[in-house]
Amino acid sequence: MQDQRLKDFLKEFIISDSQLHEVYKRFTTEIQNGLSLATRKQADIKCYMTYIQDLPTGDEKGNYLALDLGGTNFRVLHVSLKGHHEAEIESKVFVVDKELMTGHGTQLFDHIANCLAEFVKEYSLNNQHLPLGFTFSFPCVQLGLTKALLVRWTKGFNCAGSVQEDVGRLLKEAIARRGDLEINVMAILNDTTGTLMSCAHRNPECRIGVIVGTGCNACYVERVENAELLESEYKVDKTHIIVNTEWGAFGESGKLEFVRTDYDRTIDKASLNVGSQLLEKMISGMYLGELVRLVLADAITQNLIFSRTSDKQCLINTLRENVCCFEARFISEIENDNFPDFQQTRTILKELFAMEKASVEDCQKLRYICECISRRAANLVAVGISSLINRIAEPHVVVGVDGSVYRLHPHFDAYMRETMRKLVNPKITFDLMLSEDGSGRGAALVAAVASKN
Ligand code: GLC
Repeated sequence: MQDQRLKDFLKEFIISDSQLHEVYKRFTTEIQNGLSLATRKQADIKCYMTYIQDLPTGDEKGNYLALDLGGTNFRVLHVSLKGHHEAEIESKVFVVDKELMTGHGTQLFDHIANCLAEFVKEYSLNNQHLPLGFTFSFPCVQLGLTKALLVRWTKGFNCAGSVQEDVGRLLKEAIARRGDLEINVMAILNDTTGTLMSCAHRNPECRIGVIVGTGCNACYVERVENAELLESEYKVDKTHIIVNTEWGAFGESGKLEFVRTDYDRTIDKASLNVGSQLLEKMISGMYLGELVRLVLADAITQNLIFSRTSDKQCLINTLRENVCCFEARFISEIENDNFPDFQQTRTILKELFAMEKASVEDCQKLRYICECISRRAANLVAVGISSLINRIAEPHVVVGVDGSVYRLHPHFDAYMRETMRKLVNPKITFDLMLSEDGSGRGAALVAAVASKN
């Protein structure tokens, strides 16, 4: 893409190497602050204890149920762990509509119990007392494996009456209200933990689990002596614990202002959780499309793209009036497109603007806009992962990754690796592996590992 004016316009999305190192430094301090009792109150990154202290061995066996709430879909799963690092999974997706996402917590948990009942019936699993792992992908203070107090909702959820409540209890109560289900809630876990467990099941060198999907977060294996929040009884027999960083909250005390743009501020102001999850809002699938929508509307207004289109104002109005019309998956499709046909880009432009003929140049420009925004997101994820790898400081560290953005975007993995090579200690080698159904297999593994103890 050669257009200098568009390049200048997008400059603020390009993180320079010196900015990258500064974000890295601040992020690393914040993780340390989150782990230390003296500083954690002010820390953006809270580093929650998961109470999971064993990684799977691969020998785990048995039948489990799993619930997965907090991503694009709500799912119920039946997982059979077969030993030899293998698992079989059956699952069903259920809709959680906007009304449920922002209604009362009781309605949400009743819906979850209803879906569970439907699933159990359909797959003839009742009366088996199956242990259940609940992947609940929101920040929680865990008070043990089955007790998790919700700290805050994120990602467009905002259900009344649930913050500071024990989501394990809310689930058990909803199950009890139905009165027809015999289920044993064994563990509540975050999706990052599920990802780490699921990847460690296949590769014992896995130490970090990352999600780049609707939201963005990571967990990692920490030494118990560094986990100051952890009660001493958990430090007697075990050497490590999985820490759920909740890094999406980074930036809430101003530490990212030097790289945030006015577009990021607009997105934050329009969100359900203003001032919260500022790093997440620069990275995750829930916001990436919105960033492109706002940037594109301004770029058209300033005649930087689609300048020869006859009804420019119509494009601008479409973008300004239709919140969320530019979906995150469009970014992946556009960045995956081929010069000079730009077939997918043209399909998207037709769908969005009823545009019949886009020039090759405009398609290239649109791709450049998407690329700047997704590259910035990947750079920021890379900062977080690199910091955790260097902290773990083992000679080889494998990172399990999942989430719609990572899975669907054609270059996200490559962008991340490129930046990680600049930040990871050269004495450490690393690899990224795609997780296979972390929220299902991972939840079953947590339940399995928990029942071993
Ligand atoms: C949000 C949630 C976090 C979750 C992440 C990915 O950041 O707060 O718990 O892991 O999204 O789904």
